[in-house]
Amino acid sequence: LRVAVLASGRGSNLQALIAARDAGRLPVDFVLVGSDKASAGALQLARDAGIPTFTLDPKAYASRREFDFELLHRLDASGAQLLVLAGFMRIIDGEALRPWVGRIINIHPSLLPKYRGLHTHRRALEAGDAEHGASVHYVTAELDGGPVIAQARLAIQPGDDEHSLAERLLGHEHQLLPAVLQLIADGRLALSPPDGVALDGLP
Ligand code: GRF
Repeated sequence: LRVAVLASGRGSNLQALIAARDAGRLPVDFVLVGSDKASAGALQLARDAGIPTFTLDPKAYASRREFDFELLHRLDASGAQLLVLAGFMRIIDGEALRPWVGRIINIHPSLLPKYRGLHTHRRALEAGDAEHGASVHYVTAELDGGPVIAQARLAIQPGDDEHSLAERLLGHEHQLLPAVLQLIADGRLALSPPDGVALDGLP
């Protein structure tokens, strides 16, 4: 399975994927790692692992749409069969996304459909939730709104703050994302658009 990854930040989820592959638990080929931030830790992790990387600076494009089309063009050219968003902090244009729907997944730090968007840990704490978690879902044009594939759950502890909760959840994310990729690589989870989902939310 040829996999491309997009990440904007430190890249600990990418690192977990690379570690799973290195441990022989994930029969995938990471063909490309892309970012919108040249300083992303994920890019350095990829380089260290010998994975080709690229950065696209959104400011160099006239519109979000032009950026997104170029981004997905690069990913197409890499021959990737699956695209993983691992902390990619941009919303991708629905039209640019269309050819990828069904083979693009994202990891989001909440128990979707709760808390789409940002500050999920804070929102779970403020709501007084007993549990929190992370979700891997198919990406559609609706932000954090595509069908959920799998979730990891944890109990919120009395002393938890945003930081402790995020840290503890991250450990679960690092199990969850490789586990979903393994399902796909083993052919136990289809990479075609789920019924009725392909055009959901797309213009
Ligand atoms: C993770 O919490 C992920 O769920 C969210 O962004 C964070 C990325 O962390 N989408 P990292 O860059 O993988 O360390």
